Amino acid sequence: MKRVVLASYPRGNPQPSDFRIEEVAVPEAGEGELLLRTLYLAVDPLIRFSLDERLLSGASRMEPGAVMVGPTVCQVAASRHPDYAPGDVVEGRSGWQEYSVAAPDRSDYRGPPRKVDAALAPVSTALGALGGPGQTAYEGIVNVGRVKAGETVVISAAGGAVGSIAGQIVKVLGGRAVGIAGGAAKCAALLDLGFDAVADYRAPDFADQLGAALPAGAEVYLDNVGGDVTLAVLAHLKRGARMPMCGFIAYYGMGMEGPGPDRLPGFYRQIMAKALEIRGFAGIFAGQKGLAAIAGWMKEGRIRLAESVVDGLEAAPGAFSSVFSGHDHLGKLLVRVAPEA
Ligand SMILES: NC(=O)c1ccc[n+]([C@@H]2O[C@H](COP(=O)([O-])OP(=O)(O)OC[C@H]3O[C@@H](n4cnc5c(N)ncnc54)[C@H](OP(=O)(O)O)[C@@H]3O)[C@@H](O)[C@H]2O)c1
Repeated sequence: MKRVVLASYPRGNPQPSDFRIEEVAVPEAGEGELLLRTLYLAVDPLIRFSLDERLLSGASRMEPGAVMVGPTVCQVAASRHPDYAPGDVVEGRSGWQEYSVAAPDRSDYRGPPRKVDAALAPVSTALGALGGPGQTAYEGIVNVGRVKAGETVVISAAGGAVGSIAGQIVKVLGGRAVGIAGGAAKCAALLDLGFDAVADYRAPDFADQLGAALPAGAEVYLDNVGGDVTLAVLAHLKRGARMPMCGFIAYYGMGMEGPGPDRLPGFYRQIMAKALEIRGFAGIFAGQKGLAAIAGWMKEGRIRLAESVVDGLEAAPGAFSSVFSGHDHLGKLLVRVAPEA
């Protein structure tokens, strides 16, 4: 079988050359264990936190030579555990490899591999709308953002896994969704998905586009990015605006010092002068309420599935690299490692 290992720590944005493909024997499941065949792996920007000598988060650091970590959807190929049968589809964190062994009774704090109901939606959604990104979008818009009907919500990295669901939740709640994304194609795709207005942060007239999209300002800013995009948005936030702080991808790979010079003074001024309410959130959120709500909205046709799939384990390093340097994929970016049997 093939697997992808970390060859060396990336400098700045990850490059495909930071990874290496290896061929090794397929492992065997022992007593109480499962042999998992990977169907999909999630191309997940948070993995970047583990690939650094100068950790920017509480994530545990990977050593060069280790198999790349990350969320996956797998099919049970062989089971020596009474609760799982061959053919079951599960969501876990088995990493970038074609096969892996899981021990449900010795799993970490995330618990045993979660069974995925293939009748509910395509199994790939367990890594997107009906998985971590969906839960994150729900948390940011509903619980932290407390979005109400009639409010304008601006979302950075709106074409990504979290942003594309978040914007659609805003629409379900009766809000106005304004998306920021890179490139005309992605912005057009966001309008097609139901966003009310968009701004292309890579266009030379980004500031004008943002102003036109936010003529009366915004009550909520779901920030996935930080950096220049956030500095531009701050000028359009209304007094007392809420800012759920979901991620800061513009800084991943920069270390604690950031790009410099220090622009915190200007940021602090905006927080005070506009009485902004900024709240970070992270991790695994309580309960399945958000996922149940999204599944219901998908069934009613109010939330459309947004995912992009590239084929083959070998494509994983390039796909991961593209998340930090721009691509035209909409929604959750996945690598299809093998077809469902
Ligand atoms: N708080 C939590 O619990 C939690 C959970 C999941 C994710 N997150 C965070 O939420 C954010 C979105 O995650 P996701 O899963 O939706 O990621 P995703 O699907 O991979 O989308 C990320 C997008 O970010 C944009 N981007 C990358 N570098 C950028 C830059 N320098 N400036 C502006 N935009 C940039 C890119 O879109 P363009 O092509 O438009 O540039 C990229 O496609 C990330 O920061 C992630 O770490 C947080």
